[in-house]
Amino acid sequence: MVERLAITTAMREDPSGLRLFRVGRLSRLLAQELGWSDPDAEALEVAARLHDIGKISVADDIVSSRRPLMADEVQSMRGHCHAGADLLRQTELENARLAIDVAAYHHEAWDGSGYPHGIGGTAIPLAARIVAIADAFAEMTAGRPHEPRLGAEEALAQLQKGAGSLHDPLLVPQFVAMVRRLVASVDDLDGYLAEAADRSPFMQVHRQLAQRLAEPGH
Ligand SMILES: [Fe+2]
Repeated sequence: MVERLAITTAMREDPSGLRLFRVGRLSRLLAQELGWSDPDAEALEVAARLHDIGKISVADDIVSSRRPLMADEVQSMRGHCHAGADLLRQTELENARLAIDVAAYHHEAWDGSGYPHGIGGTAIPLAARIVAIADAFAEMTAGRPHEPRLGAEEALAQLQKGAGSLHDPLLVPQFVAMVRRLVASVDDLDGYLAEAADRSPFMQVHRQLAQRLAEPGH
């Protein structure tokens, strides 16, 4: 139920669902790289897919905006961290703690310049530091509004530039190593992730919901 809500919320920005899938899968792969157990890494994949669930509280025209946001709209957008954590706190989700941490802290920065709390370093829960890296990579390789879509190596270079300011400087090299190994073994990273998405129950739910929302009456 919670995941369906997250999928519906994300459809405004990510109609195919692929970006959300990639954030989840890349978070899981980084967690595995760090030595997390498979069940823990899998739980993080689910938590990562819920990271922006609080955007349900943000108006359509702000979430879908292709223009720079006004100051009050930025505030409203930033409210999605608290909103998501509050919503997840009220669920009886398995591994709720992980999902709450990710929703609350995925926009914090290593140097304390992020939001909403402005905390930095290891005060940011590890799960949120992992998802922030996966999210940034997924966003750069999907292409942001007004910005070109980057290839994997270019996106990794950007992450490396942000190591120690935006991102955890110990996690970035692990992510870079993991992605490079993956690219070497599968050749086409986008194709590999798209195929994994296609086989996933997550995408089946996404397709069902997208179909239902496209039916007349919605
Ligand atoms: Fe977010």
